[in-house]
Amino acid sequence: MPYRVVQWATGAVGREALRGILDHPDLELVGVKAYSENKKGVDAGVLVDRPHTGITATTDIDQLLTNTVDCVLYTPRTPSVDDVCRILSSGANVVTTAFAFHPASTEPADRDRLLAACRTGGSSLHGTGLNPGNLGAVLPLAMAGMCRDISAVTIQERADWSMYDSVDITFGQMMFGADPADVTAEVPSLAYTSDLFRQQVWLLGESLGADLDEVTTELEIVPASVDRDVFGTTLKAGTVAGQRWRWTGRRAGQAVIQVETLWTVGERQPKHWPTPQHGWTITIEGTPSIQAHVVTLASFVRDVPLSDHVQAASVATAMQAVNAVPAVCQAAPGFVTMADIPFVWNRAAAGSPHL
Ligand SMILES: NC(=O)c1ccc[n+]([C@@H]2O[C@H](COP(=O)([O-])OP(=O)(O)OC[C@H]3O[C@@H](n4cnc5c(N)ncnc54)[C@H](OP(=O)(O)O)[C@@H]3O)[C@@H](O)[C@H]2O)c1
Repeated sequence: MPYRVVQWATGAVGREALRGILDHPDLELVGVKAYSENKKGVDAGVLVDRPHTGITATTDIDQLLTNTVDCVLYTPRTPSVDDVCRILSSGANVVTTAFAFHPASTEPADRDRLLAACRTGGSSLHGTGLNPGNLGAVLPLAMAGMCRDISAVTIQERADWSMYDSVDITFGQMMFGADPADVTAEVPSLAYTSDLFRQQVWLLGESLGADLDEVTTELEIVPASVDRDVFGTTLKAGTVAGQRWRWTGRRAGQAVIQVETLWTVGERQPKHWPTPQHGWTITIEGTPSIQAHVVTLASFVRDVPLSDHVQAASVATAMQAVNAVPAVCQAAPGFVTMADIPFVWNRAAAGSPHL
């Protein structure tokens, strides 16, 4: 019997997840939650340029949770703890790219409510994706399988957001284009994103026995040198066009685990920034020391439009979540981190009809 899955939100990641669910031999799409009124009643196939599925999008949560749902693939812009508690209490598991990467280190009130909902529903909650996700936790832990000892782990992400087709997230949640004076790590929308990476540092620290005392956050802002068009929205000169974040886990004052993001929106990065290649660079200093650089593209051999290459990161984010669904459905109730779950991959990938 396939696992019965609801796709919750149909943005850049959600639409790729929807395609992934439709293609996956072990999953059956049984519902779609949309936020936008104009998607209400639209067939899931139409939303992702596929044949009709008979499953239409709804904005009504009650309608979605009346069916026997095994798992909700939850990819909204920002998570609602109320909604997720409701889903978990109904007995459906939740796999999400939006939060819950290391629930043990999150705000205690939310953590306790989510755990209580898991107990009520006999369900599990799993946060995953690309970074935070596979490249921020799964791959470093897999690399650590080759180590005798480790003194430091660094994960660097270098990205130009001018290619990311989610202007709500770029300009809204991430505050690119805002007055630099208003942008600090404590602003709620940035604090939310920052907390996701902070959780990742705690997760790696815990999983590698680092016994961290603290995880600190640093943010450096870079102003735009000129006006730029980003998917129809103008990022004005002088507003925020670059953000360098560092989340550092320390033991006895010594940095052991660090996640660093070097983000610009069309802007050249400042000279004093480190210069990893575009994509993700994972560095383990230890015995032995190991480094991996990862980039996602639509293809290394075919000539494809730039927009397809950009979309590849959303595909990777979504598929890590889609492919985790069977393992999360089989997990014991409660929080399931990327360190708890069995190794995730797509067992049918090389037989896909879309090859
Ligand atoms: N872990 C990772 O590696 C990773 C990578 C990329 C993104 N993410 C996260 O994944 C999630 C989805 O990202 P995305 O790129 O798909 O974003 P997106 O393209 O902006 O889509 C987000 C969707 O959220 C829905 N939405 C609208 N109003 C909302 C509201 N008030 N509250 C909550 N959701 C609302 C919309 O759904 P409808 O269109 O259906 O109406 C929208 O399409 C975000 O939380 C993002 O931070 C994680």
